[in-house]
Amino acid sequence: MKKVSKICCIGAGYVGGPTMSVIANQCPEIQVTVVDINQERIDDWNDEDLDKLPIYEPGLKEIVGANRGKNLFFSTEVDKAIDEAEIVFISVNTPTKTYGKGKGQAADLKFVELCARNIAKVAKTDKIVVEKSTLPVRTASAIKSILENTGNGVNFEILSNPEFLAEGTAVDDLLNADRVLIGGDDTPSGQEAKNILSSIYEHWLPKERILQTNVWSSELSKLVANAFLAQRVSSINAISALCERTDANVAEVSRAIGTDSRIGPKFLNASVGFGGSCFQKDILNLVYIARSFGLQEVADYWEQVIIMNDYQKKRFADHIISTLYNTVSGKKIAFFGWAFKKDTNDTRESAAIYVADALLEERAEITVYDPKVSEDRIYADLDELGTRSPEENRRLLKVVKDPMEAAEEAHAIALLTEWDEFKEYDWNTIYEKMLKPAFVFDGRRMLSKAEMEEKGFQYYKIGQS
Ligand code: NAD
Ligand code: UGA
Repeated sequence: MKKVSKICCIGAGYVGGPTMSVIANQCPEIQVTVVDINQERIDDWNDEDLDKLPIYEPGLKEIVGANRGKNLFFSTEVDKAIDEAEIVFISVNTPTKTYGKGKGQAADLKFVELCARNIAKVAKTDKIVVEKSTLPVRTASAIKSILENTGNGVNFEILSNPEFLAEGTAVDDLLNADRVLIGGDDTPSGQEAKNILSSIYEHWLPKERILQTNVWSSELSKLVANAFLAQRVSSINAISALCERTDANVAEVSRAIGTDSRIGPKFLNASVGFGGSCFQKDILNLVYIARSFGLQEVADYWEQVIIMNDYQKKRFADHIISTLYNTVSGKKIAFFGWAFKKDTNDTRESAAIYVADALLEERAEITVYDPKVSEDRIYADLDELGTRSPEENRRLLKVVKDPMEAAEEAHAIALLTEWDEFKEYDWNTIYEKMLKPAFVFDGRRMLSKAEMEEKGFQYYKIGQS
């Protein structure tokens, strides 16, 4: 089997950056180059101050600090890195299409196709091309067709190697992956390519955890894994609404059902709704694919996971409005948290954006505090919705760096992200600072209802009456 000495990854984002940093860390004999067309992002990856890396992930700056400049490089010289590498990972974004056929559902593959064309143009030696991005089933055949028509006489093996890391735990997920999935052709050269890629992961993972399948199973499994995970959240969120009407407690229900080993305890935390760049995008993609094969019932079934998630976000916003005497106009509401989950600065599809939008429509005045998300990002998220002008968004919503300032004279606090620090706050002082009655709407089920009520708060927790 060929020894790998150089790999390249196109796309220095939330997946490319951490994944390649871990590979470089675990495989000191391999030179890893992560390339991107975004100069600013690459500059941030190369910043001497490791606190300025473009992505916040626990443990990441230590790994980048230990390997950068040795066998880990970040660069905008895309062609050079492709040319030199034996393995090229494609880890670019695959957002939901915003135009044309499949708009609002299908994955936009233009960035992936550009990468394939670039590889085709540049490659002078045989390469293994690895789909790391999440792609619709049968995308590998499109990439293959582009690569095989270059006329360069270069042989390409295309593998699907979807990534299962979750943000906030990326480094740990990569180092202790439940499994690595490698899909490829069953031909002798396909099998060899799968074994070569497997040998990289075998530097730190037991071989039994590296699953080999055909390309289509691998591509589809990634979409299905996300769909199943999101379905669990929507399922428990649906039950949270019922709990609030019946005096049942959703935490007790989660525990009761989760102890059944067939169901399992993980991913049963009711919340204000799932966010993140992938759950919604990948389910929409699955729905689109099912529909395009005429499988209407299959498509409708999975679409319901998204409908339930939208309902949960709206339900939370509506509950704030109805509890605050049916009007939030001119009322200060403090948001604790904007990221889609704790321990990340990523805000893509965060529930906070949609709850804020609903409250701003009712003329609420929102003050946001998030320990890791920048002011620019928060305004960009709102502006991207296009619901109101950028000036209006800046007039109605302020961003502060101190949670106590956010709480000052607030009518209500809404907990949108489960940052650990929120549990440690001096809630007595917060109570003092707020207008009375002081309302807390806990969209993350972080605090104790009894303790908060004892301090004087009017406290609402998702899934508990
Ligand atoms: P991202 O937007 O953070 O990063 C993608 C990067 O690719 C960007 O920096 C962009 O500039 C770069 N890029 C786009 N086109 C390029 C080109 N032609 N040449 C060079 N660079 C180019 O995206 P991400 O979150 O890292 O996701 C990447 C893929 O991985 C997606 O398909 C996503 O579904 C999948 N995925 C994401 C996660 C996650 O936690 N974010 C987890 C598993 C899988
Ligand atoms: C998810 C998957 O967990 C990863 O395996 C996958 O690789 C990734 O998507 C992807 O393809 O992008 P991620 O979105 O980073 O990872 O984070 P999760 O931990 O899955 O959380 C997603 C959302 O669900 C968050 O908003 C989180 O707060 C919410 N959630 C999760 C709940 O509301 N309740 C739960 O019990 C679990």
